[in-house]
Amino acid sequence: MARLVRREHSGPIKIDPKTLDPEKLISICACGLSKNFPFCDGAHKGCRSEQPGTLYVYDAQNQQVVETRPDQFPTATPPEPPNPQA
Ligand code: FES
Repeated sequence: MARLVRREHSGPIKIDPKTLDPEKLISICACGLSKNFPFCDGAHKGCRSEQPGTLYVYDAQNQQVVETRPDQFPTATPPEPPNPQA
């Protein structure tokens, strides 16, 4: 499962640590769908039905899948561990 989402930032998003609660865990969005990027807002739950081997293209608001395609660059499978018998 992979997705294309629209991001138009051309530089870093600065986070002032003074604005964060030191007692709270901070979750950074890794799915790209958060409306509060770079912070996770729970939108990743929409990715749960995505299947391996498919590329999902989201609309400009990153709310709906508008296209699916075979993933031309699927994640490589991890290499087999070395066989100590060989
Ligand atoms: S990881 Fe993207 S919204 Fe949670």
